[in-house]
Amino acid sequence: MSRVAYVNGRYLPLAQAAIHVDDRAVQFADAAYEVIAVVDGRIADWQPHLARLRRSLAELRIEGVPDAAALGVIARQTLRRNRLRYGLLYIQAGRGAPGLRHPARDSTFPKDLRPSLIMTCRPVDFRKVAARAAAGVAVATMPDERWARVDIKTVSLLPNALAKQRARDAGAFEAWMVDRDGHVTEGASTNAWIVDADGALVTRPLSTDILAGITRQVVIGLARDAAIPVRERPFTVAEALAAREAFFTSTTGGPMPVVAIDGRPVGNGAPGETTERLVHLYRRHLASFGADPEAALQALGG
Ligand SMILES: Cc1ncc(COP(=O)(O)O)c(C=O)c1O
Repeated sequence: MSRVAYVNGRYLPLAQAAIHVDDRAVQFADAAYEVIAVVDGRIADWQPHLARLRRSLAELRIEGVPDAAALGVIARQTLRRNRLRYGLLYIQAGRGAPGLRHPARDSTFPKDLRPSLIMTCRPVDFRKVAARAAAGVAVATMPDERWARVDIKTVSLLPNALAKQRARDAGAFEAWMVDRDGHVTEGASTNAWIVDADGALVTRPLSTDILAGITRQVVIGLARDAAIPVRERPFTVAEALAAREAFFTSTTGGPMPVVAIDGRPVGNGAPGETTERLVHLYRRHLASFGADPEAALQALGG
């Protein structure tokens, strides 16, 4: 199946889709983005993702991005043209490319720029994600070397990429980044959680130190509905190693059990009971966006 991308007003085959070489996303990472799950051809949790994109754009002072209704039309068209049923939608909105009237590589914001907008999507076999969740994954800890505004979802992801690769080189699936006080901030592309001795979920509170994950927000809601206590406070690596369970959350993988940290087992070294419950609750949440939630649940791994 040929893949189609939306770029600045046009739907193009991927090989022909391109942005301007002077686009500020290329030179200054001057763009925000979202990754959103697609379930049975429908967009899951659109409103919170849109709200976060708006917030990122406001923090970056990027104006003129199409409104919610227009973004929704483009997003649905992108999915339709790709005949995507299960997968991920990518939206990137940036300050745009300066024209010839503007000096080249001027880091200040040129006036009268038309913002750039890109949308792509790709299929995901969520059954494979479910298989990974059934086994659990390992994480490797390392210093958090990112800038001080990681609450803004920008495409400036080099420290995250370096951290993730370092984790993979160490035989782990994800990196857990640690601040100067020894507290875990978050994963390279996920939010970090533990389950304490009382069975309560512990995750770092929202601040400029972490991204306000949409999956984090959804899981907090699901936990509260299931009468699982949630404590938003920082935790250390030592606490995580002594915890009953650990997991991380993201749109790409939902809640994902962590069975080892730096090569040492968490709990009994297998996915924990509370985490498994959340994995299933989250899958049901995603499936509820499908036209046929039961069929969607099967496609998401049951
Ligand atoms: C640094 C970081 N933290 C957390 C997340 C999880 O966010 P969400 O649940 O919205 O996918 C991501 C997702 O890309 C991320 O990049």
